Amino acid sequence: MPKPRLSVIGTGYLGATHAVCMTELGFDVVGLDVDPAKVAKLSAGEVPFFEPGLGELLRKNLDTGRLRFTTSWSEVAEFAEVHFVCVGTPQKKGEYAADLSYVEAAFGTLAPLLRPGALVVGKSTVPIGTAAWVADLVRALAPEPDAVEIAWNPEFLREGYAVEDTLHPDRLVFGVRSAAAEARLREVFAPVIEAGSPVVVTDFATAELVKVAANSFLATKISFINAMAEVCEVTHADVTKLSEALGYDERIGRRFLRPGLGFGGGCLPKDIRAFMARAGELGADQALAFLKDVDAINMRRRARTVDLGRELLFGSFHGARVAVWGAAFKPNSDDIRDSPALDVAESMQRNGADVVVYDPAAMENARLMYPQLSYAATALEAADKADLVLLLTEWAEFREMDPAVLGGVVAARRIVDGRNALDPPTWRAAGWTYRALGRP
Ligand code: UGA
Repeated sequence: MPKPRLSVIGTGYLGATHAVCMTELGFDVVGLDVDPAKVAKLSAGEVPFFEPGLGELLRKNLDTGRLRFTTSWSEVAEFAEVHFVCVGTPQKKGEYAADLSYVEAAFGTLAPLLRPGALVVGKSTVPIGTAAWVADLVRALAPEPDAVEIAWNPEFLREGYAVEDTLHPDRLVFGVRSAAAEARLREVFAPVIEAGSPVVVTDFATAELVKVAANSFLATKISFINAMAEVCEVTHADVTKLSEALGYDERIGRRFLRPGLGFGGGCLPKDIRAFMARAGELGADQALAFLKDVDAINMRRRARTVDLGRELLFGSFHGARVAVWGAAFKPNSDDIRDSPALDVAESMQRNGADVVVYDPAAMENARLMYPQLSYAATALEAADKADLVLLLTEWAEFREMDPAVLGGVVAARRIVDGRNALDPPTWRAAGWTYRALGRP
């Protein structure tokens, strides 16, 4: 049987990676984006964001002739039998809820063009109830409503590991309403299933819930250890030792138990907020009341980091030159959405510091969003004559910095390790005043 032809609608992190990986798995794929600049870049073999390994895989798969990108909806509808919708669902301005306008536009534009037999699969992270709403929308607009189907297949990829997570996911979740839709999805994911990824088949609401529940759990785990860091701060205990000791218990596990400046990015913060907003609409707000604390603990880490910096500068940022290492929300990414590092940098600047930022990948994005900050071309240049250095995103080059070399360029040897990434004895031995979150 010939393999179904695929389309991927929306070529951000999720969509671009999905399109490339499905081609790698042997399918014919067309990717659509409404942004002609993105389409041109991808068509030329250029990934519009930082993702290790994706550029090589994109160029390799473009060369097969089985992958192309377009802005034409009719081309996509003509070509593909299975469509994956991968558009963004950002937080609404001034509200907790998710903005579903891109989801509505994607399904709404595609529906009237759909050919009989088409399956449209939502991958975007959405509030519970969206898949059912989208199914009604598509039914109302499709030329042959009984001949098209909707499914929901949430995505769990992490930035920085996007290719690996897409080719070898921990699990596949298929939210479906018919055996035919499940069979189609099994066909499309056959290579992934054969390689060992388990499949959970369920209804729409559960599939939507798996995604937000997973991100809520991860956020809760991070905020748990960061709450322990707050307790460590008042008891002079060491949260990194605490985390290590807790992590040996397999029921707890070490992953996502790294204490520090907390979570940011385009997913965890907005997903827990959208989840709370939706739970409120559904009358289940009490069930998720704890997520408010998860969010609050996370935001307090940023304030605490600013306070640590101020303490090291004897109570005031005024006139101080401050180096910030890191702008991306995590290492191996150029994503600065809800970046804890830039939030802290901006706050210190607002309080009178002269802040100079360096990041190995996110400089361009940071400059656009935070033009009020200064930027340097290297980590050492950022630290030149600095009164204080803050490590806020744990890139390898910061972890591996020689304290003596750095000591040679700064005005004063003071460092805040916002990610618990450095070895305190080594830094103290080199004459540094070293402070970190949750450590004596
Ligand atoms: C997250 C999830 O991990 C993915 O499974 C999910 O698919 C994705 O969101 C999504 O919804 O699209 P991602 O946003 O790429 O992935 O980032 P993570 O690796 O989860 O890190 C999130 C934040 O938590 C980062 O700011 C990181 O620095 C922080 N973090 C992580 C900690 O502070 N401590 C930890 O122990 C782990």
